[in-house]
Amino acid sequence: MQIQRIQEKCIGCMRCVDDCVSGVWRIADGVPTVSAPEACNLCSHCLAVCPQKAILHAGLDMSQIKRVVRKKIDPEAYKQIVLSRRSVRQFQNRPLNRSDLEAIIGLSSYSPTASNSQHVEYIVIADKIRLLEISRIIFSTARTIYDWSISKPGKFVFNGLRMNSGLAKMMEKYIEPMEYYMALQESGRDLILHNAPVLIVLHGPAVSFFASDNCNIAAANICNYAHSMGLGTCFIGFVTLSSRFSKKLCSLIELPKGRTIYSSLVVGYPKYSFAYTASRKPPKIQWLMDSTDAAGEKFW
Ligand SMILES: Cc1cc2nc3c(=O)[nH]c(=O)nc-3n(C[C@H](O)[C@H](O)[C@H](O)COP(=O)(O)O)c2cc1C
Repeated sequence: MQIQRIQEKCIGCMRCVDDCVSGVWRIADGVPTVSAPEACNLCSHCLAVCPQKAILHAGLDMSQIKRVVRKKIDPEAYKQIVLSRRSVRQFQNRPLNRSDLEAIIGLSSYSPTASNSQHVEYIVIADKIRLLEISRIIFSTARTIYDWSISKPGKFVFNGLRMNSGLAKMMEKYIEPMEYYMALQESGRDLILHNAPVLIVLHGPAVSFFASDNCNIAAANICNYAHSMGLGTCFIGFVTLSSRFSKKLCSLIELPKGRTIYSSLVVGYPKYSFAYTASRKPPKIQWLMDSTDAAGEKFW
């Protein structure tokens, strides 16, 4: 990996050394030196932290390293975005622009990934027939489970499963009201993809410690940025979960071999806007404090 320090520009502030997590940059003879270029994970920290633009990196697209406009970072605006984002399950019959989706996905690719793996990939499904088929496959699976749950052996097994309070809650929510859901689905309501014009699935390597985290962080950024652009999103756990068991679903989604879906979202123009924010349980926080800090208000 060709990484270079431009001697004439470098002021020796050592930020590149301090901030390099991979030990690529080390001090040698009192100057920052590229000592282990093979360890570089292409995170571009050294380029972004250097106040002098004194680093060249052949493995990175230098045109992407742009000046941060700190004045535009507005915590109140960010807070309003987070507070006002809701899961959207009713959409306008209005197509999305491909350029908007590209912008949203492009921004989400700036999300952190473990070891800067950047292995999150996206499949954007905007094909109505395929979307309907995805919904149909998932809903019919739920229906099959329900049909079995009311059979004699099914009742026996489900009664046993109810001993677990988590499973009991799931059944209460998804299985028991199934007659009602079936009537809704038959009336044309899409209970899986909510008749959204677009489904985005985020996938990563099937074998990976952090692919799920990486995909879901990227997905959260999609939700927030899309919302800031006037678009609505909703995580569709049913797609993510069903893809683990249904080869048919994976082939319909054209999921490449060796990849797993870790996150799924529908996107569209919301039919309704939410005038008020949500109500949430107060966060449970355990503060593990330094015992010498009597007031417990300031850290370090
Ligand atoms: C991982 C995950 C999976 C979800 N799956 C679904 C889903 O399959 N269908 C759905 O309508 N909503 C789904 N949701 C949305 C949640 O129900 C929603 O986020 C929650 O009720 C809070 O509401 P809010 O997003 O409007 O604030 C999912 C959310 C998450 C985070």
